[in-house]
Amino acid sequence: MCGIIGYIGNRRATPLLMQGLRRLEYRGYDSAGIAVLDGNSLFCERTAGRIDALKEKIGERRPEGTVGIAHTRWATHGIVSEHNAHPHRACNDSLVIVHNGIIENYRELRAELQATHTFTSDTDSEVLAHLIESCHQGNLRHSVACALSKVRGTYGLVVMHADNPDLLVCARMGSPLVIGMGEHEYFVASDATPLLPYTKDVTYLDDGEIAELRRDGVRIYDLREKTVHKDIQRIEWNDEQAQKQGYDHFMLKEIFEQPVVFRDAVRGRKIPEDGTAYLGGLNMTESQMRNVSRVVFVACGTAYHAGMIGKYVFERLAHIPCEVEVASEFRYRDCVLDDRTLVFAISQSGETADTLAAVREARRKGAIVRGIVNVVGSTIARETDGGTYIHAGPELAVASTKAFTNMVAVILLYALQFGRLKHVSLADGQQFLQAHFEIPSKMEQILNMNDEIAAVARRYARYRDFLFLGRGINYPVALEGSLKLKEISYIHSEAYPAGEMKHGVNALLGPDFPVLAIMTKNQLYEKMRSNIEEVRARGSKVILIATEGDTDARQLGDDVLTVPSTIEALEPLLNTIPLQLFAYHAATMLDRDVDRPRNLAKSVTVE
Ligand code: G6P
Repeated sequence: MCGIIGYIGNRRATPLLMQGLRRLEYRGYDSAGIAVLDGNSLFCERTAGRIDALKEKIGERRPEGTVGIAHTRWATHGIVSEHNAHPHRACNDSLVIVHNGIIENYRELRAELQATHTFTSDTDSEVLAHLIESCHQGNLRHSVACALSKVRGTYGLVVMHADNPDLLVCARMGSPLVIGMGEHEYFVASDATPLLPYTKDVTYLDDGEIAELRRDGVRIYDLREKTVHKDIQRIEWNDEQAQKQGYDHFMLKEIFEQPVVFRDAVRGRKIPEDGTAYLGGLNMTESQMRNVSRVVFVACGTAYHAGMIGKYVFERLAHIPCEVEVASEFRYRDCVLDDRTLVFAISQSGETADTLAAVREARRKGAIVRGIVNVVGSTIARETDGGTYIHAGPELAVASTKAFTNMVAVILLYALQFGRLKHVSLADGQQFLQAHFEIPSKMEQILNMNDEIAAVARRYARYRDFLFLGRGINYPVALEGSLKLKEISYIHSEAYPAGEMKHGVNALLGPDFPVLAIMTKNQLYEKMRSNIEEVRARGSKVILIATEGDTDARQLGDDVLTVPSTIEALEPLLNTIPLQLFAYHAATMLDRDVDRPRNLAKSVTVE
């Protein structure tokens, strides 16, 4: 969603901000803009569309200034157009803002201000510029604090004023902002990705904090304007990881990184001699763990599918009743939680607004809340009382791939750790870990089938509808495969637990409705087989994901993609990969914008 980058220092701000915008593109956007202070004169340019369009508009007019702000917009209030793009200016053209979030009471505020201020956009954000202007009496931080005291909603906000060319003021409530610390230069951004070429030392603003960035330092205050002292953290990611490294798309690179990042996720977390795992960040004693009576996974999108897999493995290994819920539903439901309920919030970005709200709700109700998060230092990581980083490295394609497998990898280790305190025997634990150990090389084997998968995907890319089928632990895998296909190729697709087809979806089957089914050798293999026979009998083409050496599958499927065998609990780690590649190649065949699919954002920081 909206991306913010701001800079104050001694370099020319324009190229730096433009490069920053490009690094924020992955979040998803529909328009972009930049404002730079050149002495006391304000240069501002905005456009609907891509950053290249903004670059073209700027043309040869390159302001020399060394302080500026820039923004990629993801429309919420107001159509996609130049006048709705950020930065937004106040009336006197001296004050500009960029904003991520939603101002809930903007209608009331706008109605009040309209008598004396001229509005030029349909956005909720513009009201902030006028409100700050109306509060302004010389001290920009006071003006921002005064304006924000009247605002209801969420914001990651950066403000610049031509009368204060040595100052940027930032504020956060609900929408992330990270401050990068350089040598006499400071950065502010929605996430750390655009900061990587310049600094790894950062500090994360918390809700209710206001920061002043000057060339000689950063000062942070709370909303009552009391000074706040914050730690500086070091980002582990390097700039190289945030590049495509020769791949055509980030998504393909991230799919291919899975064997490597899987190893990163589990390194140091397995104890083979005890047949168990140890995830220290859980921050619970063994007796507290034994006392857990229920596990709830909350998440959105792909992370939700990882949670569904969690339900299967937790109930099987740990014998703990388990639920999984979409965070946007969880947060508004009267969910029954107590101090024996362990809530896992799963999130790649650690910033998804609904998942964060679910975390807050669960904590309020006294549950034990832990995070399974990729981005170190993100809000969910900070607001949970422990948890585990999945160490997938920067994931920049909107469609999540490697983060999914690493979420599953970590959840499986949690299930084993809990299971070994209860029902799982040493031998079973060790067998589990051995199978876990073999996963990366088996992932590599599947990745080596890329050309074969591409050929199959291309043959099917022209169909308009698709059905994904799975059973048991492979039902969430089917959901994930279907989500990947629809989000990046725009082919309509559904996923069903195969045993449920008779209750509706069978009516859709026929020659125009191909079916991709996961039929690997596990306890539901025979059941799945009969379901596929039914599909064939109704004339649909069938693509099968089957276990290596399954000769029967060859007779059943029009196309068969094989995967190495593993124990059932670990199948999702392998079975998902051909589905990711299938979606990727179908989308490239259709010439889609694979890394930045239309209408979608990487990090959904508003409700
Ligand atoms: C967006 C992204 C998905 C992601 C979901 C949850 O919809 O496009 O790829 O799965 O948000 O994001 P999170 O960062 O919380 O895992």
